[in-house]
Amino acid sequence: MSTPSELVVDRIERARLVPVVVIDDANHALALAEALSAGGIRCAEITLRTSAGIGAIAAMAELDGFTVGAGTVLSPEDVDACADAGAEFIVSPGLDASVVARSQQRGLLALPGIATATELQAAARLGLREVKFFPADRLGGLGTIIALSAPFPGMRFMPSGGVNVDNVGDYLAHPSILAVGGSWMVPRSMIAAGDFDAITHLAADAMALVASLQSPERQPA
Ligand code: 3PG
Repeated sequence: MSTPSELVVDRIERARLVPVVVIDDANHALALAEALSAGGIRCAEITLRTSAGIGAIAAMAELDGFTVGAGTVLSPEDVDACADAGAEFIVSPGLDASVVARSQQRGLLALPGIATATELQAAARLGLREVKFFPADRLGGLGTIIALSAPFPGMRFMPSGGVNVDNVGDYLAHPSILAVGGSWMVPRSMIAAGDFDAITHLAADAMALVASLQSPERQPA
């Protein structure tokens, strides 16, 4: 039987795109999740870069069929706040064993950021099989992921930082990519302005792009 975090891995893998959200007002969160869902994206990473983050996670967790995770999670206390709010996965910019351990204790998928082979090795030693790769473009993008994958063939990556419509296809075509994280379909200013129709369009465009890029081996039988 799959564990709760394995089920979340499956949902993230099927989603292919994880919007990375910076939100200023938790009252916008439900409308944002509905707008993304209407565009075909049923998950989001809500960063704790603003004080509205926890409230936004709690609001989105109420929406059936929507998978909400937390980003910019920097401490075990943050993990607890996110878990209590209903987050199902925990993303951090870097690798912190205490954050990973608390996530695992709370039954949540931990996706810590790694940037080097040393960090990837440490993540593997913590029992992780999925990591964030951040900031992806600054670290050399897919070429670096491919190089890092060689000694860690079982590891899968969620690159974010500079992923956009021009390079998302390259990332998603590679089997070591679990999904990509990006903010281009959730501009902070559009969320703040309540421009949710525009976000639905951006999400739908992003999903159409991903569908058009689908590699043959990932097509359903
Ligand atoms: C992240 O935390 O993953 C990034 O800030 C998202 O990067 P982007 O804004 O370049 O998509």
